[in-house]
Amino acid sequence: MKKTRVGLIGCGGRQNVHIDALLQMEDVEIVAVAEPLDDRRAAAAAKTGAKRQYKNHTELYDSESKETLDALFIAIEPTAHTDTETRAIEMGIPFLVEKPMTLDLKQADRIAAMIEEKKLITAVGFQDRYLDLMEMVKEELPKHKQGGIVNGAWIGGIPGVWWWQKKSTCGGQLVEQNIHLVDGLRWLFGEPLSVYAIHQSGMIRPGIDASPEYDTDDYSICLIRFKNNVTACLESACYSKDVRPNCGLVVILDDMVIDYRLRNNLIMTTKDRTVDIKRGNNQTYSLDRDFIDAVKTGDGSHIRSPYQDGLKSLKLAFAANQSMETGEVVYFKEEE
Ligand SMILES: NC(=O)c1ccc[n+]([C@@H]2O[C@H](COP(=O)([O-])OP(=O)(O)OC[C@H]3O[C@@H](n4cnc5c(N)ncnc54)[C@H](O)[C@@H]3O)[C@@H](O)[C@H]2O)c1
Repeated sequence: MKKTRVGLIGCGGRQNVHIDALLQMEDVEIVAVAEPLDDRRAAAAAKTGAKRQYKNHTELYDSESKETLDALFIAIEPTAHTDTETRAIEMGIPFLVEKPMTLDLKQADRIAAMIEEKKLITAVGFQDRYLDLMEMVKEELPKHKQGGIVNGAWIGGIPGVWWWQKKSTCGGQLVEQNIHLVDGLRWLFGEPLSVYAIHQSGMIRPGIDASPEYDTDDYSICLIRFKNNVTACLESACYSKDVRPNCGLVVILDDMVIDYRLRNNLIMTTKDRTVDIKRGNNQTYSLDRDFIDAVKTGDGSHIRSPYQDGLKSLKLAFAANQSMETGEVVYFKEEE
């Protein structure tokens, strides 16, 4: 069996989740790893058996080619994206890149245009599109009258990575973390008409509750309007590490409440009955499997979040950031 040869750029927390998924696939071998931190690079090489190790993506691209690598997984800090993607595109190597794919929308536009021109297979790490519970929500919605309120929330503490403490290096919680639900809303309800958002700080004390350089939002709330009378209220908060409410999406239809509890279970309630379904799959495995299958067959049409689509979620999250700064509603042009 010919194995798909994978290279890894970045060997941090998220990449290790991809490694665990890829190691379960008999038709995949991880052959190269690139990571500036010696201990992470060595650990990833040991775990995967990758023979070729590089200090960063530049070294990898200088030594590898389409003849030696079939696909790349890119999971680096949001501000570390330089020519990380463009070199893969120029070399014609398909890649899966983690969200947020960059904090520079102009760079993202250039990358999307290059991908489009080359017709390169790409995927963004919007794992929830592959979660069985989210698939069930997507299947359920068309069975009901369209329209209603959606309450979304991602509330918890501050993630451990250093770059999360500053808005300039993470983009804010909405861009870095709650972008999963932003993307989920787009997946379920289509493209947005407008977004309005507010943000708040002053609760988390830099140097006491967080690192001294902490300056990101303690919480934000955004209102996103969609066609068909759908309006979503999306809350993000990182001040609540010890107690937290249910997170996920609650869709209030005229004859059913769909309560999607973030990556855990799905409760659907009508006047006659309630069903409660537990999560049944590992969505990162399903995401990675779909991408690998696309690489093997050369057909990327089934990928649920190619780069160009992921960029729309990134732009929506950044439009919310813009609204937080200006206090204005941001309206979107309808797609032709
Ligand atoms: N899809 C998801 O559910 C999910 C979950 C967690 C994180 N993420 C995303 O994954 C990305 C990485 O997050 P993380 O938590 O793994 O961060 P991390 O800080 O743990 O890991 C990032 C790694 O990239 C390395 N790196 C930086 N520049 C590099 C370069 N030029 N070449 C090679 N390696 C380089 C860093 O040294 C670091 O080890 C972020 O964009 C984050 O938002 C996605």
